[in-house]
Amino acid sequence: MILVTGANGQLGQCFQKVSAQFPNIPFIFKNATELDITQYAALRKTIQTLRADTETLWIVNCAAYTAVDKAESEPQKADQVNRIGVKNLARICAEHQLPLIHFSTDYVYHTKQNTPFQETDTVSPKGIYAQTKMAGERAALKANPDRTMILRTSWVYSEFGHNFVKTMLRLGAERDLVKVVADQIGSPTYAPDLANTVLHIYQLVQNREVALANLSGIWHYANEGVASWYDLASAVFEYSKLPCKVEPIATREYPTPAQRPPFSVLDKSKIKAAFGLEIPHWRVSLKNCLHELGQYA
Ligand SMILES: NC(=O)c1ccc[n+]([C@@H]2O[C@H](COP(=O)([O-])OP(=O)(O)OC[C@H]3O[C@@H](n4cnc5c(N)ncnc54)[C@H](OP(=O)(O)O)[C@@H]3O)[C@@H](O)[C@H]2O)c1
Repeated sequence: MILVTGANGQLGQCFQKVSAQFPNIPFIFKNATELDITQYAALRKTIQTLRADTETLWIVNCAAYTAVDKAESEPQKADQVNRIGVKNLARICAEHQLPLIHFSTDYVYHTKQNTPFQETDTVSPKGIYAQTKMAGERAALKANPDRTMILRTSWVYSEFGHNFVKTMLRLGAERDLVKVVADQIGSPTYAPDLANTVLHIYQLVQNREVALANLSGIWHYANEGVASWYDLASAVFEYSKLPCKVEPIATREYPTPAQRPPFSVLDKSKIKAAFGLEIPHWRVSLKNCLHELGQYA
C-alpha cells in the first residue's frame, strides 16, 4: 500500500492520475486538510492505523511549502512544512520501519558549477525555500537513515496545479509577446514521469528485483535534455501553435524576492543505472503534457 500525502498538490494529483495504470497497488491519498504533516500526533495515529492493516506500507510525501518567493517573508511557515513536517514523517517511518519517498529540489545546487550535478556535489541553497528543503532532506535522512529515498527534481510541470507551462499557455493566449529569462539553465520535469518512476521502483522492490536497502539516500530525477526558461516557453508556443513571440531576457531584468540558481542541470546516471530507467526527453514529455491539456496542435 502507498500513502500519498499532499495529494491535492501538483505532484500528488499526478500520482492520483498514474495510479490507474497500477491496479495492483492499493493507494491512500490524503490532502493537506485530511492529513497535515506538521501535526505529529494525528500523523502518527493515521500511519499506525494504516500500518496495522497492511504488511507493506510506503509513504510518498508530496506535501511541501512551494511558494518560493513568498517563503522569503514566511520563513517559519516554510520551515514548519519543509523541515518539521518531513522530520515528523521520517520519525514515524523509522518507528515502524517504513520507506519514505520524499522530493527535493535542484535549488539546493546554487553554486558556480556549470556541469551537471551529481548527488555527491556540493550544495549551497540560497533563499528560504531552498534552505528549508535542504533542512528537510537532512532531517529525514537522519531520522530514518535506512529507508529514506530523497528524489531531487527540477522545473516540475504537468496538467495540474500552477506551473510554468500552464502560465505560458495562458499568457500566450492573451499576448503577442512574452519576455522570458534565458540565462537560467536546467531540465524540465513532467510530473507524471516522476510519479511513474516512483511506482516503477515500488514494483521492483515488491518483486524483489531491487533490495529496499538500496533505495536510501539522494537521487536525481528530471527529464533528459537541457533548457533555459526561454527554450521551454518557445517550445510551448511552437507545439501549441500559439502565435506568441518570446523575447529572451536576463535574470536581472526579472527580479524576484528569492534568487534562482543560474545552472541546475541534474545528472541522472545513478537512478538510471540502479533501476534500468529510460527517461524521456523533455520535448517528448512536453508534447505529452500539451496533448493531455488539449493544446498540442
Ligand atoms: N514545482 C516545482 O517546480 C518543483 C521543483 C523541484 C522540486 N519540487 C518539489 O516537488 C514536490 C511536489 O511539488 P508540487 O509542485 O506538487 O507542489 P504543490 O503543488 O505546491 O503541492 C504541495 C502540496 O502540499 C500541500 N501541503 C502544504 N502544507 C501541508 C501540510 N502541512 N500537510 C500536508 N500537506 C501540505 C499543499 O496543500 P495546500 O495547497 O492546501 O497548501 C499542496 O497540495 C515538493 O516537495 C517540491 O518541493 C517541485
